[in-house]
Amino acid sequence: MTSLKTRFFGLELKNPLVIASSSLTADPDKVKAFSDNGAGAIVLKSVFEEEIINEYNQVAQGKSDSHFDEFMDYFDYKIRDQVLATYGRLIKSAKEVSQVPVIASINCISAGDWLQFASQVQDAGADAIELNLFVMPFDPNRKAEDTRRFYLDTVKEISRRVKIPVAVKISSYFSDLASICNELDGEKLAGITLFNRFSSPDIDIDKEQVIEAGTLSNENEYLLPLRWTGILSPRLKCPIAASTGVHDAKHVIKMLLAGASAVQMASVFYKKGPAHVAEILKGLETWMDKKGYESLGDFKGRLSLTKAANPALYERAQYMSNFGGYAGS
Ligand SMILES: Cc1cc2nc3c(=O)[nH]c(=O)nc-3n(C[C@H](O)[C@H](O)[C@H](O)COP(=O)(O)O)c2cc1C
Repeated sequence: MTSLKTRFFGLELKNPLVIASSSLTADPDKVKAFSDNGAGAIVLKSVFEEEIINEYNQVAQGKSDSHFDEFMDYFDYKIRDQVLATYGRLIKSAKEVSQVPVIASINCISAGDWLQFASQVQDAGADAIELNLFVMPFDPNRKAEDTRRFYLDTVKEISRRVKIPVAVKISSYFSDLASICNELDGEKLAGITLFNRFSSPDIDIDKEQVIEAGTLSNENEYLLPLRWTGILSPRLKCPIAASTGVHDAKHVIKMLLAGASAVQMASVFYKKGPAHVAEILKGLETWMDKKGYESLGDFKGRLSLTKAANPALYERAQYMSNFGGYAGS
């Protein structure tokens, strides 16, 4: 019988299909629907440090008197308590209805006090934590080393505070992606997810306005995580989950062949609903049967950088004519 078992988040998952953190995982009914349709694990909507900071700043705006600082200290705690208590309730109720692991997601933009929240997440019953870490490198005065320190300090600090497994989801915005993944790997992570996808600006040329571009990924976007999964999977000790543009069974199979242990998907479920989980898993099993594979281990990583017959395709980016450059149609 075909087995789809895999390991990610330091846990055995019954299959590699993880529902990525998003509003799809922000309430227990939705979590139950994904669990009932056979997902391997579910990452809850992130709790955002930025959200708390924004709320704090709104209250702080325009106020100043001698007692104000003291009030704001108190208010800071109040806001945190409320946000964190709500998130704790989400974890508890998601755990009650889900038959598969429930992962808490914490977004951090700074390594500080806020991180004590990780132990509250653990106490609420989360099976693991995914850190959703991102620094948009738009500040011309911020050095790469500062960002690097933030990532490593945050991971160290959280891992020190909790016993449950800790994984990290990162973006592709690094000039030294392989190196930072290597350093994160040294922190004994339970997984690295490549990559998070963010909202992007676009321009409406009729209104001459900057607008938000489409929120959901399209199915060609899987190529970036595919490349980096192929390059990094043989080099890292921790498992990789591929994310962004993974929409169907073929994409899942490609990521596994490149060396992913799991995939994290969101956009396609906004379009097709939770029943699409079962369809993808069926497609994966059908392909494995056709190939005579009994477990993911039979083919996982078979086309990674070190195993592929033509590994240069992973590392080469330029279209050079001596490598069969594009001649047009
Ligand atoms: C509407 C929406 C909300 C999201 N919210 C979060 C979030 O709270 N935390 C997080 O780590 N990722 C969030 N993501 C990113 C997804 O978890 C996922 O990594 C990304 O969308 C790429 O996968 P996809 O191409 O299957 O959508 C969100 C994505 C979407 C579309």
